Amino acid sequence: MLQQSDLTLIKPYLYQGNVVNIEVTNTKKGREIVLEYQDGKKLCGNLDIEPFTMRELKRLSSIVSHFARGKYGSNQWRGNCSGLLIKDLLEYYQPKTFGDLAVGSGTSFEVARDLGYTAENSVFSDLNPKYGGVDISVPNLDFPLMDFIFFHPPYFVFPGSSMPVYSGIHNGGMWGDDIHPNDGSRITNPVTFKKWFDTCNANLYNLLHNGGRLAILMGDSRYKGKYYSMFKNMDIYGEIEQVIIKRQHNCLTDSVQYSGKFIPIEHEYLVIIKKNSPFVIPITAVNFCERDIRTSQKVTWATVIAMLLEYHGGKLEQKSLIDMMRRHPKGKGNNHLDAKLRQELQVHPKMFFRQNDFICLSTT
Ligand SMILES: C[S@@+](CC[C@H](N)C(=O)[O-])C[C@H]1O[C@@H](n2cnc3c(N)ncnc32)[C@H](O)[C@@H]1O
Repeated sequence: MLQQSDLTLIKPYLYQGNVVNIEVTNTKKGREIVLEYQDGKKLCGNLDIEPFTMRELKRLSSIVSHFARGKYGSNQWRGNCSGLLIKDLLEYYQPKTFGDLAVGSGTSFEVARDLGYTAENSVFSDLNPKYGGVDISVPNLDFPLMDFIFFHPPYFVFPGSSMPVYSGIHNGGMWGDDIHPNDGSRITNPVTFKKWFDTCNANLYNLLHNGGRLAILMGDSRYKGKYYSMFKNMDIYGEIEQVIIKRQHNCLTDSVQYSGKFIPIEHEYLVIIKKNSPFVIPITAVNFCERDIRTSQKVTWATVIAMLLEYHGGKLEQKSLIDMMRRHPKGKGNNHLDAKLRQELQVHPKMFFRQNDFICLSTT
């Protein structure tokens, strides 16, 4: 908690720029304070240590939070990201060569120029013809190999949702007359989107030097009760070196009341993948599939019985339940289903119980 007397201590620092955020944290060593300025610079100090001084905070950790957006990129560009994060990454990893092939409003380009990267050691493009019209979801990309690639793809857009879309100005997009079929923001089928995202990631990974890194900034989407997690659903080409959770600063007034409908999404993931071998690519693959309890041999009898009871309002006459068990592929040729049911009732007394001729699902 900030006290009246603390204001005297921090006063000189308040005049050093436009302060957009002040955070005070109680730690074992005392109250630590962080001031964040409009340009993204952060100063930190300890209010309980004399003499009070503040120093620049230059630290990447697995949670990042920037109140300020800094001077980079355009906030008119829907789905733009903070250049301050890209700056932190480049200053931390210090790659010799850098690229962003889905550059959007040019945020990473501006950061790179600010840090001294030139056309000799950095590459920028986008599907947007203004930035070359290069489609990174197709093979045979022609770029020099790079040490560090930043990729901020479009997020998955549920049909009907108001998430940012890019191609097709006449249809709510940001560039081009027509919708481009390989613009990720226009792919509304989750399976097709996953394939698109995996292909882009694989193509970008192939453009890394051995020892190079691909940093992917991605987020989750929700619409009408459906949730899509890009990070959970993606395949990983290469080795994950770091996962950073980036805090999004939405309006606090959006979350002061529990609407009861959903928990607002206030995070994005920055996943840093490293290429550790020129030849061997470790791949973690994710598959979408479904298991139907009515037809699967892999589920247990307890699961089948519980779901049958649930579907029928929590209660079934024993005879009907055994008939249904007989029609299940697991029951084929089994002449001892009465005994099986008795056994399941014995083994799962917390799940079901018998009430006269009925088998019931426990409610608590
Ligand atoms: C989230 S935006 C990037 C925003 C950027 N980081 C910024 O701060 O402005 C995603 C970009 O991906 C581009 N894009 C979509 N599909 C693409 C594809 N297949 N190949 C290359 N770029 C693509 C879009 O045109 C859009 O500019």
